[in-house]
Amino acid sequence: MQIRHYLLLVLSVFALLFVSVQGDEADSSEQTCTWSDRHNCGGVYRDANLKEMQVNLVGREPESFFAYVHPDISTFYNKTEGSMAITETKFNGMMGKFVNMAATPITIYWKSHDPRQEPVYISQIEAYGAAGTATYPGHVFLVTPLGDSSIVLHEFQVVKGNSLYIYDPIGSLKEAQKTLPSPELERYKLQYDNLAFNNLYEQFTGRQWLALYGRKEAPRYYMWPAESFGQVHTVVTKETHLLELPSDDRFEKMIPLNCHDPELREALQQYKGSEETLILNMTVVSVAPRVFEIKNFLSPAEVQHVLEVALGMKLSQSTTKAGSVGQERTDDATRTSKNSWLSRHRSPIIDSIIRRSADLLQMDEALFRRRNKDEEYLVPETKIPISERLQLVHYDVGQQYTPHHDFSIPSTKHGQPSRFATILFYLNDVQSGGETSFPRWMNGEKKDILRVAPEVGKAVLFYNQLPDGNYDERSQHAALPVGKGEKWLTNLWVWDPHM
Ligand SMILES: *[C@@H]1O[C@H](CO)[C@@H](O)[C@H](O)[C@H]1NC(C)=O
Ligand SMILES: *[C@@H]1O[C@H](CO)[C@@H](O)[C@H](O)[C@H]1NC(C)=O
Repeated sequence: MQIRHYLLLVLSVFALLFVSVQGDEADSSEQTCTWSDRHNCGGVYRDANLKEMQVNLVGREPESFFAYVHPDISTFYNKTEGSMAITETKFNGMMGKFVNMAATPITIYWKSHDPRQEPVYISQIEAYGAAGTATYPGHVFLVTPLGDSSIVLHEFQVVKGNSLYIYDPIGSLKEAQKTLPSPELERYKLQYDNLAFNNLYEQFTGRQWLALYGRKEAPRYYMWPAESFGQVHTVVTKETHLLELPSDDRFEKMIPLNCHDPELREALQQYKGSEETLILNMTVVSVAPRVFEIKNFLSPAEVQHVLEVALGMKLSQSTTKAGSVGQERTDDATRTSKNSWLSRHRSPIIDSIIRRSADLLQMDEALFRRRNKDEEYLVPETKIPISERLQLVHYDVGQQYTPHHDFSIPSTKHGQPSRFATILFYLNDVQSGGETSFPRWMNGEKKDILRVAPEVGKAVLFYNQLPDGNYDERSQHAALPVGKGEKWLTNLWVWDPHM
């Protein structure tokens, strides 16, 4: 058994790296949209709440920007505008974005209130770069030169309602123009303009701009609308439920060096029902952030298969990424679960789950694997999958993942690649606790955080970005501690524009 799993792992890694796959026919309705035509992208997708805003920045051509404006809270309940008010939850966690406007790299440390505790490393930030982390009002962060944490250049104290913390020893654009050589001045100006853009954006939307103006484009992939609580979308998919698991020896023959092989997919067909399509019901559980619940996304046989694969794998202590250039760290207080990774090439069953997920997202399944020559138009910049492998996570009693964001604040790269959508798949019913919480959901009735209960086979989809390309602070979420029993979950992270 162990050897079989080991072999599977080796084969799947091999498959991921070297096998060029024969994809399905490309879906030509998939289009990419640029920054400026995002509001009217060939009629493919236009978010109704993108509103035109004028951007006038010093030394730049004036231009239009389509900013996402949250509709009035009353409309979340199908009530007339202005008839309800937002009830903020008691949760006060937030995102802290740190911008380094110095000509040299810096390191950010979190300083505990307890003077005996050593400062905790958060992130390195390159010159004119940025990084972010989840934080709370009152938290103190130290700015130090790279490689010398004994010198504190600056201290930030986090204030409620402000997520932007700027380290700028140069002090002004005028001073920068006097002292910086031209390529550096350009990078200084990029962050300077971004802050000026943030001022306009914040006035217009009531939200801060966490991305980088001119570098971060609006997501090019479809986003489901979420207009009111309880709204239902239906998704039709050809990836119908697996009703029965192939026997072990049948399964051996399906070990997919190429899971896109039509024969393998046909072989799987005999374990499915006679229906040609599966109808999934997607219910809005939160409007802002956009969170959807899809019951019976996975069939019992599919859940069993994923668990069988998981149980044959060695799970390791989860790590969490701090910031964009930060090294991975294990932080026992933040994340106590165990995890492992599962490729879609591992089995035709997992491949089918990924294809169904692509249908759920209204995206081409080719985006979730290496693309062929004729599919390059989907993401011209790269052939690599825009999603991570499925992450398998196990929580024991008391284990949790404290509130965090799935997006990172990238540095100054074009396109600002970051996580776009997250799909969680629950693999068991938890006796008590273990809910996924969205403590910053916008609502007009309760001060409680939103809790989504794990339920075997259920999927939860949420977006980490907004339709205008900003990162959605409200997408902050947590895995609440398991009270009784254990919790098995797998999740899919999809990037925009790519990994
Ligand atoms: C609002 O109306 C939509 C469409 O009729 C419906 O699906 C949804 O459940 C309603 N939401 C609320 C909160 O009443
Ligand atoms: C979706 O809803 C329809 C109508 O209520 C129901 O017949 C169908 O079984 C549901 N689909 C799933 C996968 O639960």
